[in-house]
Amino acid sequence: MRGKKRLLVVFVCLVTLVIVFAKCMDFQKREPVKKDAVAGAETCRKCHTSIYDAYLHNPHHNTTQAITTDDLTHGQMPGSNVYEFNDRLKLVVEKREGGMYQVAYFDGKETIARKFDLAIGSGKRAYTYGYWEGSRLNQLPLSYFRQVNQWANSPGFPTNMVYFERPIGSRCLECHASFVDKTVVQTGALTVGEDLDAKSLVYGIDCERCHGPAGQHVAFHLDSPEVKKAKYIVLYQNLTRKQKNDACAICHSGNDVTVDRSTFAFKPGDNLSDYYRNSRATFAKLEEDVHGNQSQMLAKSKCFIQSKDMTCNSCHNTHEELKGNLSIYSQRCVSCHQTQKHSVETLRKGMLKTNCIDCHMPKQTSKLISFQAARTTKVSPYLLRTHHIAIYTSAGK
Ligand code: HEC
Ligand code: HEC
Ligand code: HEC
Ligand code: HEC
Ligand code: HEC
Ligand code: HEC
Ligand code: HEC
Repeated sequence: MRGKKRLLVVFVCLVTLVIVFAKCMDFQKREPVKKDAVAGAETCRKCHTSIYDAYLHNPHHNTTQAITTDDLTHGQMPGSNVYEFNDRLKLVVEKREGGMYQVAYFDGKETIARKFDLAIGSGKRAYTYGYWEGSRLNQLPLSYFRQVNQWANSPGFPTNMVYFERPIGSRCLECHASFVDKTVVQTGALTVGEDLDAKSLVYGIDCERCHGPAGQHVAFHLDSPEVKKAKYIVLYQNLTRKQKNDACAICHSGNDVTVDRSTFAFKPGDNLSDYYRNSRATFAKLEEDVHGNQSQMLAKSKCFIQSKDMTCNSCHNTHEELKGNLSIYSQRCVSCHQTQKHSVETLRKGMLKTNCIDCHMPKQTSKLISFQAARTTKVSPYLLRTHHIAIYTSAGK
């Protein structure tokens, strides 16, 4: 009997201990996650698998990539690997020990060689490349242009000499990557530059650049799988039209702005004017360009002015790759324009239902970017769709 009692006491004690320990462990697991904690894109895959997998093909995801193999991360590049400035000076893209290089030759003698370390651009139109020199990221002189499937002088580079010193600053990466740590350093009596921490660079534009830091969201939903309603994450459906558009315009309203603070901190719901001053997007005075200024160009369109709810997402789904599928885009037009009044002459041109785009959003030449093919002084145009949706009499032939 006494033995049984003792056993019972021991049992009760054990149970209590187990409960206390479980509570402790539970408590540890529920340690609060900081509000602005970033979870990292891979964590999203567990619960948002199809969005995550589709997003791997979106140009946002692929807009910066490390180059670790010798195929420049995107397979064979057609065209010549030699770019001649003139009879004496040329640049050659070469495979060497340890990677791919851009090598300059003067009268056949090598003068400088630098390794491809990262690509900027998903390659829809172009790739431009950078190499690390300590904590500086510099741009390589040759870029690759899809329109001509050729190497050409990087935009804005001199045409009579090879130049390897142009820095790629954190500002490029604010629009083309998800994070980089920088320190502002003095480089001369009156000049400052920046040191970038290569190891901190998060390539591509990841989920949390558009959705805000999601550490708390992830921790909560991991703990409470029974909750099916989103918690601790900004809901786009609750944002105003301006807030929705600002979340895209932070990168799609051009770069002739004074940047007040790093846009890596931008979260959906924030205002553009908290980050930029004299922005075309906030003051809309300067002439906009088809490169970069989608947000201002759209704002000039009757579609945008006369509808209450048009946003970038009326036509775009940034989780997918719709590129080139003009018939899907045209369906989005028809969702607002079930009927259109076209003249007999326009109708005679045919193909109306499946391609509204070439007539009403024709490709136009960028005034900011052009590129120079080898051995010529002629610059080739860089073409992009205008987002000023309108009637263009010369288009659609
Ligand atoms: C443990 C599961 C889980 C993980 C991990 C997770 N989420 Fe979610 N998320 C949910 C649930 C549940 C919902 C609500 C149902 C739904 O909309 O799918 C949700 C909804 C959302 C929404 C929709 C909000 C709206 O507008 O309705 C966004 C945006 C979102 N999550 C972003 C993210 C991002 C970004 C990550 C990665 C950093 C992430 N989630 C990781 C479970 C998770
Ligand atoms: C962090 C900066 C950033 C944000 C935020 C951003 N974009 Fe982009 N976007 C880019 C960059 C950079 C590219 C060029 C990608 C490339 O091809 O290298 C791009 C390309 C695109 C393209 C062309 C590629 C394609 O899919 O056809 C579309 C469309 C687009 N963005 C729409 C949007 C919309 C809509 C939003 C808001 C929901 C948005 N973007 C938010 C930086 C951004
Ligand atoms: C370029 C900006 C951008 C990026 C990058 C992005 N999203 Fe979104 N996402 C949006 C926008 C805008 C919406 C709202 C769409 C709408 O309501 O029309 C949205 C909606 C969502 C939703 C809720 C609606 C739905 O479609 O189920 C989830 C969940 C989500 N995103 C998860 C993710 C995850 C996970 C990633 C990364 C793999 C990601 N997003 C990357 C812009 C982005
Ligand atoms: C304010 C945001 C922003 C900044 C800053 C920015 N870009 Fe871009 N970049 C974009 C957007 C948006 C696109 C795609 C659409 C377009 O051309 O308007 C793009 C397109 C590109 C492309 C072509 C990608 C493709 O395949 O279509 C390259 C290459 C590129 N940028 C390089 C750079 C470099 C190098 C820098 C820094 C010197 C830089 N960008 C700074 C927003 C930016
Ligand atoms: C959110 C609804 C909406 C969407 C989507 C939309 N529009 Fe419109 N659009 C309007 C409204 C509203 C007007 C002004 C009233 C009108 O002319 O019907 C307009 C006007 C126009 C005009 C006359 C412009 C002028 O300057 O006279 C054209 C052309 C046009 N839209 C073409 C398009 C095309 C092409 C698309 C797809 C790429 C498109 N719209 C998508 C709402 C929309
Ligand atoms: C009325 C429909 C519509 C709206 C609204 C719209 N776009 Fe587009 N956008 C298009 C079409 C169509 C294309 C061409 C797609 C293609 O060629 O694959 C395009 C292309 C782009 C491109 C790639 C540039 C190019 O020349 O291919 C970017 C970047 C872009 N849009 C950003 C935006 C942003 C940012 C917004 C909001 C400010 C926006 N778009 C609003 C229809 C729209
Ligand atoms: C061949 C070129 C061409 C194509 C394709 C085309 N449009 Fe038009 N659109 C025009 C022209 C030109 C006008 C001016 C009226 C005219 O001369 O027909 C116009 C006028 C319009 C208008 C203003 C008149 C009105 O109905 O209010 C709208 C809206 C419009 N188009 C929408 C569309 C949509 C949506 C599509 C695709 C389903 C489309 N257009 C395809 C050339 C075109």
